[in-house]
Amino acid sequence: MGILKFKSHLSKLPSLLFRNNNLHTSKTFLKFNLLSANYCSGNPLQLQVWKMYEVRHTFKKIKPINVHLSNASQTLKLHPTWLRDHCRCPDCYNAVTYQRKNDILKLNEHSTISAHSQSDGLLHVLWSDGHKSIYSIPWLISNTYEGRCRTQEEEANRLITWDGSMGNLPSLEPILYHNAMHDDNTLSEIYRRVIQYGFVQIEQVPSTEIDTKMIIERVCRMSRTVFGKFWETGTNFDHMDTGYLNGYLEAHTDNTYFTEAQGFLVFHCTHFNGKGGESFLVDGFHVAKQLKQLDPIAYDYLSKANITAEYIEPGEHFSSGGAILRHDPVSHQLEQIRFNMLDRAPLTSVPQSEVGTFYRHLRTLAMLVRQKENEYWFRLSPGTVMVIDNWRLLHGRNSYEGKRVLRGCYYSRSDFMSKARHYGIIL
Ligand SMILES: [Fe+2]
Ligand SMILES: [Zn+2]
Repeated sequence: MGILKFKSHLSKLPSLLFRNNNLHTSKTFLKFNLLSANYCSGNPLQLQVWKMYEVRHTFKKIKPINVHLSNASQTLKLHPTWLRDHCRCPDCYNAVTYQRKNDILKLNEHSTISAHSQSDGLLHVLWSDGHKSIYSIPWLISNTYEGRCRTQEEEANRLITWDGSMGNLPSLEPILYHNAMHDDNTLSEIYRRVIQYGFVQIEQVPSTEIDTKMIIERVCRMSRTVFGKFWETGTNFDHMDTGYLNGYLEAHTDNTYFTEAQGFLVFHCTHFNGKGGESFLVDGFHVAKQLKQLDPIAYDYLSKANITAEYIEPGEHFSSGGAILRHDPVSHQLEQIRFNMLDRAPLTSVPQSEVGTFYRHLRTLAMLVRQKENEYWFRLSPGTVMVIDNWRLLHGRNSYEGKRVLRGCYYSRSDFMSKARHYGIIL
């Protein structure tokens, strides 16, 4: 009924709407109204349509004026609507809550620049409605699409990827528990190392549950998952996961079956009495670089093909899909490797006509992951807490005999990155 009503009012719209030479815009607009009609069946439809016409018309009228920002090295063109939307004056932005106050539907009426000037690193804009905005030019540059892409590229270039020898990593002062607990610079250094190298070790941590929890919480809040908040393997078999058993564990990332895999893993082996059980890490971003060089078609395929993983235990069935190599949608930088061959669900995301290609590319990646040269072997021992980037590093372990108590937790990506951003490690 709503759609019929909508159609009956359509003829009353001004002919200007239908003279629009941009057919695509016009179609999108009509589609949007059709949706509005369905969702707002209780409202007077004519009003809805006219309101949308007004908004669309207002957008059409505005001519973009480019503002050229110059400093020694760069020039940037800014659109007036973007500028007005990014005004940080008290009328437009709440500096206490860090939230915008402006109204998106009124934005374009206010986006005509009457005058602008630059001085002392500031851009002054006088708007046609008399509103005045002052912007810091470095802030403007770093908060545009162009600036953001450049920053993300710089951040990606700062990552130091490594092979199993870790030969290219600088020799670093050990991070000690006492300093990490009491000194913010040490804390900041923990975030820096995790971001740059994919892991950090914190030494001289007392091997008790309480001290392990204290250092864990000092770095970041623990995340609660199906495995609980603070977990312990080696003493219980609460969960139906290979990690809780004592066999060999091949290199993998965790949580490929979550819609968002936990960002970071924390391990503290608080007790070991037996044989074997050595751990190893593989830098997934290093492997990805190798794949890109060796077989760019495989790299491209595994960046797009969807692979579903699952985790099942009594009362639970997690399932989630995604590319093995996930990239940032804006900067296209590699953001995550999702590699867990054990947790793969039935392959329903690839047509049978394509499975040959899929397995060929997956094998190429798996072969690189298995290269002995890419594995960094070490022993997790009481006193050393390790934080690992689960979106970048793969972890594995030798089989063992005897008693091995491994405690730890996950940090969500959002929580840890928030800390790293707060400390200025990332933007
Ligand atoms: Fe694991
Ligand atoms: Zn303002």
